Amino acid sequence: MYSRGHAGRAASPAHAGAAAAARLACLSALLLAACNAPKDAPADTDRAADTDTGAPSERPILTSPAEAVDQDPAEGVFHVELRAAPATYEVDGAAVDGYAWNGQVPGPTIRVGVGDTVTALLQNDLADPTTAHWHGLRVPAAMDGAGWVDGGVAPGTAYTYTFTATSPGTFWYHPHLDVGAQVDAGLYGTLVVEDPADPAPDREVVLVFDAWNEHDPADLDAGAGDDHHALTDPSNTLWTVNGLVDPRFPATAGERIRVRAVNAANTSYLALSWPDMRLVATDQGRLGAPESPESVVLAPGDRAEFEWVVTRGFDVETLPWVASGGAAFGDPRRLLSVEADAGAATPLDWPAGDATPAEDPGRTDLLYVFQGGGTGDWLIDGEAWPDVTVKTAALDADTIVEVRNLSATNHPFHLHGQRFEVLSVDGVPVPARRVEDTVDVGIRQTVRLLLHADNPGDWLLHCHLLGHEEGGMMTLLRVE
Ligand code: C2O
Ligand code: CU
Repeated sequence: MYSRGHAGRAASPAHAGAAAAARLACLSALLLAACNAPKDAPADTDRAADTDTGAPSERPILTSPAEAVDQDPAEGVFHVELRAAPATYEVDGAAVDGYAWNGQVPGPTIRVGVGDTVTALLQNDLADPTTAHWHGLRVPAAMDGAGWVDGGVAPGTAYTYTFTATSPGTFWYHPHLDVGAQVDAGLYGTLVVEDPADPAPDREVVLVFDAWNEHDPADLDAGAGDDHHALTDPSNTLWTVNGLVDPRFPATAGERIRVRAVNAANTSYLALSWPDMRLVATDQGRLGAPESPESVVLAPGDRAEFEWVVTRGFDVETLPWVASGGAAFGDPRRLLSVEADAGAATPLDWPAGDATPAEDPGRTDLLYVFQGGGTGDWLIDGEAWPDVTVKTAALDADTIVEVRNLSATNHPFHLHGQRFEVLSVDGVPVPARRVEDTVDVGIRQTVRLLLHADNPGDWLLHCHLLGHEEGGMMTLLRVE
């Protein structure tokens, strides 16, 4: 998660450079999975006319994904059954032959409290092995659903994951085998761990964003081992919110709505923007104090929480933003509209936490260098998964991690089973404390992290652009 204070929307010379670089990169074979070149805005006049004329709108109404119902009567235990199976569902009026958990895309939202135990029975009714990986949660290593240890859950079999929700936040779950194809097909859901210290909003909405047409749909049901990840035309990218294209969200003036946003796309970034943004949490829970950024970049795998203080209607947009360099040319795209009459509202009172970032002690305990692409593999420290050297971090000690990106595309750095604090980006300390499990590392950028690894085991560490991950950009960190 990365937020910008005052990034103007008008194209500037810096943007021009990024856009030119992006176009150049698209011409080369360097960016197999990250070539999201700027383009002209899609013709959207019909939809605009709907709102302008007040004619009855055909835009769908947005609701949160259906929540899982606890199937265990015991207090403090949440039992859910997730059936992964082929499913046909609609995206923008067209039938998609994909996969779904319990027939719904996104899958059921699992909502628990801190300290609750989750038991999730995964029934695999797919033709390929699958897993459920609990992205961002500090689960026991054997429950991580990482897939590489045991080959995952075989077709026609079931497995029960058991773990305790140790800290609050907005997390998500997705398979970790043949990950690009399975996530793209529709296997992703949200897991909310509620914080008892949070103020009660008038309403809460979960927004799971996914980008379609990232890949050639013909690749979708090819078997494991095939290349699912050849990009067709990335400028075709179509965003859905909880499976809906450009929905509207009716609200009432005065409402305070808690928004939990997840970017479940394989390769496409969001640069979310709307008037009077109020950011209250990132990957790993509440900020020390709410912030008012002008836009928030969510890389694939990233989450953020916001408060909508409804005083009028507004559009939620994504600004032109590319993995091959960041802010770009083009018009913002509308993702959804919040519809409301004008009226007064008072923001929620969020309890103050520690907003001061940790100090960088200056030493580096672990260095990760991300590079590669082109016709070769995507590499971490010159190695491609699974031929990797396992590095070690001491349990319950502070480990300073430096991530350097030497390649021509951004990489969202993700570490399983732990959380970390961001110390600095290119030597500039972060202005406020950020606790994350996924952090975007820009082209030629160096990001320094404070990892206090408190969860023993061997943990995957990888780029969350799924094509890069499968192209080799993944390694293991041992915590002991
Ligand atoms: Cu969501 Cu290994 O990742
Ligand atoms: Cu990457």
